[in-house]
Amino acid sequence: MARLDRLLANLGYGSRKEVQALARTGAIVFDGQAIKDTGYKVPISAELPQRLTIGGAPVDPPAPLTLLMHKPLGVVCSHREPGRSVYELLPRRWRARMPALSTVGRLDLDTSGLLLITDDGPFLHRVISPRSHVAKRYVAELARPLRGDEAAVFAAGELMLEGETDPLAPAVLEVLGERRARLTIIEGRYHQVRRMFAAVGNHVEALHRDRVGRLDLPDALAPGEWRILTPDEQAAIFAESEA
Ligand code: URA
Repeated sequence: MARLDRLLANLGYGSRKEVQALARTGAIVFDGQAIKDTGYKVPISAELPQRLTIGGAPVDPPAPLTLLMHKPLGVVCSHREPGRSVYELLPRRWRARMPALSTVGRLDLDTSGLLLITDDGPFLHRVISPRSHVAKRYVAELARPLRGDEAAVFAAGELMLEGETDPLAPAVLEVLGERRARLTIIEGRYHQVRRMFAAVGNHVEALHRDRVGRLDLPDALAPGEWRILTPDEQAAIFAESEA
């Protein structure tokens, strides 16, 4: 159970004072009744938006919340980097949510594809920890034809990226064309895929993530679109991992 004023402030509807003022107008309705006392306690569950409306619209989903986004090219995953961020593709109010939403790992400005965004810390850590063995799959368009030994080099688990002291975990390369390959990795080091291809004398011209665990980026989700991750999709992420 949570007090309405605290709950709505944490969902970004305004300060507790602003929420109290909103309540006095009769705009906050729980189970069909206008709630004017924001000390009123409501049960927190995924079904809350079916019972609580604000100005006639279902309340935003409470935490824990995980989103599945088709990240478009040209947006960054960090609040701190300059430029337009993935958070600007979400409702404005969500920037004030507590706990805050964060991307699960990062995709570069010029990488597109499956991006998870969550306020669920344990879920985030489980996905990004190499110990969980959650596979992240990328399709890379390359500047130069593949040499032929890349799959063996990546599978060996001995590749050392420039400036690092630990070799990369084994990764799986599938050749899709002369200058096109699919690469599955379980780590998420800085610019990892681009640096792996650089280490074998190539250059990534375009990069797209199409799968995390056994969760595929849905075809129906156009670049820039997002929706709430379903429990089945969440389970698919860990379907073949060890943690
Ligand atoms: N590896 C990269 O180099 N860039 C990404 O965006 C993701 C993985």
